[in-house]
Amino acid sequence: MTKTLLASVLLFSLHSWASPVHTTNPATRPHGSCKQLNISVSTSSQSHVYDIPKVDNDLEATAWAINADTWSHQLTREAVLENTTISGTYNIHVQLCTPQSGGNVLQIASHGAFYDGRYWDAELEGHSYVNAALEAEYSILTYDRLGTGQSDKPDPYRTIQAQFELEILRQLTIKARNGALGIKPGKVVHVGHSFGSILTSAFIATHPTLSDGAIITGFVLNEHFGTVGRSSWAVMHPKGWPSGFVSMARSGIQDTFFNGNFTQQMLDYGDKIKSPAAVGEIASGALLVQASGPFAGPIQYMLPELDFFICAGDCKGVYSLDALKKTFPNASDIEVAIQPKTGHALPLHNNATAGFQVSFDFLKRNGL
Ligand SMILES: *[C@@H]1O[C@H](CO)[C@@H](O)[C@H](O)[C@H]1NC(C)=O
Ligand SMILES: *[C@@H]1O[C@H](CO)[C@@H](O)[C@H](O)[C@H]1NC(C)=O
Ligand SMILES: *[C@@H]1O[C@H](CO)[C@@H](O)[C@H](O)[C@H]1NC(C)=O
Ligand SMILES: *[C@@H]1O[C@H](CO)[C@@H](O)[C@H](O)[C@H]1NC(C)=O
Ligand SMILES: *[C@@H]1O[C@H](CO)[C@@H](O)[C@H](O)[C@H]1NC(C)=O
Repeated sequence: MTKTLLASVLLFSLHSWASPVHTTNPATRPHGSCKQLNISVSTSSQSHVYDIPKVDNDLEATAWAINADTWSHQLTREAVLENTTISGTYNIHVQLCTPQSGGNVLQIASHGAFYDGRYWDAELEGHSYVNAALEAEYSILTYDRLGTGQSDKPDPYRTIQAQFELEILRQLTIKARNGALGIKPGKVVHVGHSFGSILTSAFIATHPTLSDGAIITGFVLNEHFGTVGRSSWAVMHPKGWPSGFVSMARSGIQDTFFNGNFTQQMLDYGDKIKSPAAVGEIASGALLVQASGPFAGPIQYMLPELDFFICAGDCKGVYSLDALKKTFPNASDIEVAIQPKTGHALPLHNNATAGFQVSFDFLKRNGL
């Protein structure tokens, strides 16, 4: 074997064993600027020990999905073996972007499972939600949820859980509101995608005074929610990661996140920036999906028309506006918008910018 070949074999194996390489998106943007910060967050919350099979390799990852999908088990809900509390101080990596003008309204965006904060900031022209928000004169805080990206990765069974992440979101929101991140916004809007939308709904339900408006993307409770099963995720155990993390094979990324009008380049990018998810997080999400409360701000549900996991491939007509209004009876405005010919990862489809604008128009109509 030549030295060059040996070197490239070594490089290849180093690459495939290391955590994903994070390119830092540029600080200077067409309509503003961004900075990366590491924020230390101390928090505690209740947590649960779930009856989850361990996931140490690809075989066990697939078995984990099949176990959850088996009809005689409870759909997407592992049994709680023990109620506990967890607390700790963790590093959360955030990106804070401010526009050239305006910026009095801060959006705080929570990404979904199998991605990190880069979900909101695609490097493909016309697909960065962050750049669109700056152009619409919003400040925007994106962050890597616990267990993803450059944030800390504690125990994926017992610590990376939804209620703990809800507390992290609360701490980040309080820091942002009181100026600790370097800007003092007048209003704060919470934006979510998928699992991040479950967190966002639970956040406005439990901390209604900490938010002035919400955009819930890629999530609505309906009879088809999750019925396609976790096996559609085509999960693997990511090499070099500890027990308890699962990631998606490329086919799972397409099944779950892409549908309708997208290009090969968009799918390749969606596969490139994917991130492993913690099995404890996925088990605990079920506790938050039914959130309801006296939130008084406006809420928009932005649904991809062809969302496979959330709506079994077609979100048209599956939701009930009345049910949503019962969930948030005090909301000043509730709207459901459908982004045509788009799958679960809204920013990574054709016509994404027009979809972002539908949310910004809704916020502006509501004084945000
Ligand atoms: C944040 O922390 C990560 C992980 O420890 C590190 O790689 C990165 O350089 C830090 N970034 C900043 C802006 O301090
Ligand atoms: C955990 O707490 C819930 C709610 O209080 C309770 O219904 C459940 O029985 C508890 N589970 C265990 C295993 O103690
Ligand atoms: C929610 O609306 C109901 C009915 O209008 C009202 O009685 C209640 O005080 C409101 N709650 C909050 C927290 O604003
Ligand atoms: C692009 O998205 C906008 C906003 O949802 C929608 O009005 C328009 O019909 C879409 N265009 C196509 C070609 O789907
Ligand atoms: C897909 O999107 C492209 C670019 O926005 C557009 O030109 C084309 O008409 C769309 N195709 C369909 C079938 O909507």
